[in-house]
Amino acid sequence: MNDPIKPKHRKRKIILLLLVIFAAIGGYIGWDRGFREHPQEAWINSTPELRFMYGSIGAEHDAGIPYWIWYVLPRVFPEKLPGPGGYASLGVPWQQGQEVPVGFTKKTIGFPRVGNNCAVCHTTTYRATPDSIPVFVAAGPGHTTNVGAFFRFLVDCAKDPRFNADNIMTEINAVTDLDLIDKMLYRFFIIPITKQRLLEREAQFKWLYRKDFPDWGRGRDDAMNLTKYFMIKLPMDDTFGPTDMPSNWNLKKYQHDKGHRMNFAGDSHDAYSVIMDSALGLLGAPPKRKEEFVGHVKWLHEYLGNLPAPKYPFAIDQNKAVQGKALFDANCARCHASERTGTRVPLEEVGTEKDRIDTWNHEHAKASNKVVKDMGLERRGLVEDEPLNGYIAAFLDGIWLRAPYLHNGSVPTLRDLLQSSERRPKVFYRGYDVYDQAKVGFVTAGAEAERVGTKHDATQRGNSNQGHEFGVQLSDADKDTLLEYLKTL
Ligand code: HEC
Ligand code: HEC
Repeated sequence: MNDPIKPKHRKRKIILLLLVIFAAIGGYIGWDRGFREHPQEAWINSTPELRFMYGSIGAEHDAGIPYWIWYVLPRVFPEKLPGPGGYASLGVPWQQGQEVPVGFTKKTIGFPRVGNNCAVCHTTTYRATPDSIPVFVAAGPGHTTNVGAFFRFLVDCAKDPRFNADNIMTEINAVTDLDLIDKMLYRFFIIPITKQRLLEREAQFKWLYRKDFPDWGRGRDDAMNLTKYFMIKLPMDDTFGPTDMPSNWNLKKYQHDKGHRMNFAGDSHDAYSVIMDSALGLLGAPPKRKEEFVGHVKWLHEYLGNLPAPKYPFAIDQNKAVQGKALFDANCARCHASERTGTRVPLEEVGTEKDRIDTWNHEHAKASNKVVKDMGLERRGLVEDEPLNGYIAAFLDGIWLRAPYLHNGSVPTLRDLLQSSERRPKVFYRGYDVYDQAKVGFVTAGAEAERVGTKHDATQRGNSNQGHEFGVQLSDADKDTLLEYLKTL
């Protein structure tokens, strides 16, 4: 009998087989170099603090920037940053010897990508003197980070015609040696797609370019408006309410059943909800793997729940502090160490700037809660059925490190807060990290503070330092002792 497969057919079959093999190899390479997920380097998970500062929460998938593009952007577009020094000019906390700043996460998903985590806005740095080595405090307020300038930088780079494969590849080739496959991937896919992705954000960030809104400046962002424009995709309105980055330590002090609420205006029910919503904000898209995502949220909830506030690291006069406690009990405790602490104090009573409250309402809360629920995620969520007309009487643990003060960061130091509002500084510089032990807060004036920091003008919109006129009538000697006590909290 003859061979049933004629030679012509056999040839066709071999070609087909080869094509399948090539496609499989191509597919494998595409997956391996484009999408294959690798765990982060092991040191990142070696301590909870490192995990908080550098650990991925999954933001690299949709919001990540390819590492080499991230690396060369400040070299290609230095003029789009607030000053010299690359990303450091954005005030991001950057530990010596680290490849990326705190709050930036490097993870390989096909190719190395850089995302962000909570620590970019929730890590404090301070120095005792200009010559001291900075101390990094995980979960402290990110008072140096200029989030607005970072967002604008990325959009401005993408809009520039010089953001193209030729220019970016030239810079990348100058700093690293990619193999042929990576070079092709970067040139034909990664660079054009990244540009496209960043340009898509332009419309949502339009309000960051408004001339009638002052800059957020270092250490602030307009969190509720970010939620409106990114999570529920509402069109831009006229509200403006940037707030100071808060501390995130010791979150277990907030107890829902005692009526405690989270965020400055008490618009979220509990820490778990805020953490989940913040994490979704960083991902910029529904989580790829829900269980893994919830795992990150639970870990953060546990870690931040139990992390103690840092102790004041400089000398405290204990005698004065004891006297100061009596003044605190008489003037402050009814809001800051009582059943009112952690609950909303009506705006008429505290009298501080109203703009932040106007950025958010019950309809926004309902819409956001629906978005999260539709992702199949469970949480108590944003407050839909309580008045949102005031600010939370803050717990004061670690208050020494939470300058500048009030929800909008409008008062530079604790000493200034104990002055009537017309005597508080109208103009100061925020985001410089040298500590001022006499005023209890950061240094906010002088050549270095002005060079590094961003200007806060309390006469501008959203920036008022009005209200909270408590303890302002005390004598200077009493204020000294009260300040000494506040250092012990
Ligand atoms: C881009 C900066 C930024 C990032 C990133 C960020 N936050 Fe925040 N966070 C803020 C600001 C600003 C507020 C204050 C919001 C308000 O009330 O207006 C806040 C509020 C909070 C609060 C409420 C604090 C309180 O005392 O009421 C918690 C808790 C919190 N964030 C945790 C997180 C966690 C956990 C992450 C990461 C998953 C995260 N945040 C990411 C800026 C940020
Ligand atoms: C009637 C209640 C009330 C009294 C009394 C009161 N506070 Fe406050 N305090 C508040 C509220 C509400 C806020 C939040 C206001 C805001 O951010 O706009 C606040 C905020 C603060 C902050 C800023 C917290 C931060 O993270 O920026 C400090 C510090 C503070 N108070 C200290 C004091 C001291 C010291 C006294 C006593 C001399 C005092 N307060 C008396 C209600 C009160």
